[in-house]
Amino acid sequence: KVLILDFGSQFTQLIARRVRELNIYCEIHPFNSKKFNVSDFKAVILSGSPHSVRSENAPQPNLSEIKGKLPLLGVCYGAQYLAHFYDGEVGASNTREYGRANLSFIDSTELLFEGIGEGSQVWMSHSDTILELPSNYKKIASTHDVDNAAYKIEGENTYAIQFHPEVYHSTDGTKLLENFLIKIAGLNQDWTPDSFVDTTVQSLKDKIGNDKVVLGLSGGVDSTVAAVLLDKAIGENLHCIFVNNGLLRKDEFQSVLDQYEGMGLNVKGVDASARFLSELKGESDPEKKRKIIGRVFIEVFDDESHKIKDVKWLAQGTIYPDVIESVSATGGPSATIKSHHNVGGLPDFMKLKVVEPLRMIFKDEVRRVGKSMGIDAELLGRHPFPGPGLAIRILGDITEEKVRILQEVDAIFINGLKKWDLYNDVWQAGAMLLPVNSVGVMGDERTYEKCVALRAVESVDGMTADWVNLPYKFLQETSNKIINNVKGVNRVVYDISSKPPATIEWE
Ligand code: XMP
Repeated sequence: KVLILDFGSQFTQLIARRVRELNIYCEIHPFNSKKFNVSDFKAVILSGSPHSVRSENAPQPNLSEIKGKLPLLGVCYGAQYLAHFYDGEVGASNTREYGRANLSFIDSTELLFEGIGEGSQVWMSHSDTILELPSNYKKIASTHDVDNAAYKIEGENTYAIQFHPEVYHSTDGTKLLENFLIKIAGLNQDWTPDSFVDTTVQSLKDKIGNDKVVLGLSGGVDSTVAAVLLDKAIGENLHCIFVNNGLLRKDEFQSVLDQYEGMGLNVKGVDASARFLSELKGESDPEKKRKIIGRVFIEVFDDESHKIKDVKWLAQGTIYPDVIESVSATGGPSATIKSHHNVGGLPDFMKLKVVEPLRMIFKDEVRRVGKSMGIDAELLGRHPFPGPGLAIRILGDITEEKVRILQEVDAIFINGLKKWDLYNDVWQAGAMLLPVNSVGVMGDERTYEKCVALRAVESVDGMTADWVNLPYKFLQETSNKIINNVKGVNRVVYDISSKPPATIEWE
């Protein structure tokens, strides 16, 4: 496997994604972490960084077990680090070195550039530049503005590049990583969804033995894939709980429950709708609504897990981006969750040992693993849906009637997207019920009814998003259907805000 030492670059996770796409397993660790053994790895990549090697707080890894011993690739900061701290010279660059550049010189005898021609587009993002290489370093590529765009250390399997091979705009970036990892470091491309399933199922068996495990299913991709992996490993000893909080999409509780049962999972559906709705009564503050839903979920889940005798483990669908420690981390999200719950003592199920079968894989890999285990494509391709569900799409307080209205509207919108073959072009879609009434006219009658907003966005990770240019014909048909079929709604608007400055949800 490959070690990626992180110096805090915004692109570090992308390096890992590219390596995994080559079917090679890799892990990201902060450059100063003590939680890994270099001896477990066959090659090392040094990431970029927002820091300058010339600044006082420049990250300085201990490379004594790495440099000259393992195949090593420095990227951006990594390249500058290997020059600056080994007798080279790094200084501020005269020209702007952000964005597109082309390799004007390539040493084509170097394996690193096999199959990559002069002129290849690369992506730069740095303000320092390597002015002088140490004596035993050899320049192997340049761009118009950057003389030392790539170098190799003679007598070592150490390479460094100033540009970012991991970004999409570096046209031959994946080829370069492939050359480094396969041709130079000799790694095998044996990290596939099938091999992941085999090794994970075996290690779950070894870890859990005959113990019982409880897992909360949400209807989403991550918890479903985690459940199927555990089901393969321990069968009936996995107890899944699927809670209806009354804020799911129309008919979703029953249809998803049926699907889970059809997959052979040992699942119990718990309809706690009435309890959630009664606890939410009269509350219109978004954060308080979220807190109430979080608390009630924990109470319901705790009650249910007590009904399972001798349960020892809690399984969660945590994925890799939630686990990767950031270089500047001062605790991270899991620490906060604990302190929060510690106030009133941990619920009993939280005292269980935790098992997280997906903690080392990315979202797209979760889908590939799900697919290789035969999970229904429709379930795997489902849009993200927030934990608090329709509660944060009903602006203001929540009533049973408002939930019903929004479920109807949402179902018309989502089914329409599917019918028009637009569903898979959209990252997330849904409807918001606004707390305003407006005047309309139906037949000869004046109406004074609710307004709904439709939202459809494209995104990669939900951090940034843009609204989708849905066809006018589709919007027209959808609006007509909603107003004609959903009693209580006389106006439909389409949200054309990007994130930032707006957010995806309205609350
Ligand atoms: P925003 O509205 O922050 O949403 O742009 C980004 C993504 O996060 C989802 N979201 C939530 N998910 N609990 C969740 O589990 C929440 O409280 C929550 N709020 C927003 C949202 O649906 C989108 O995918």
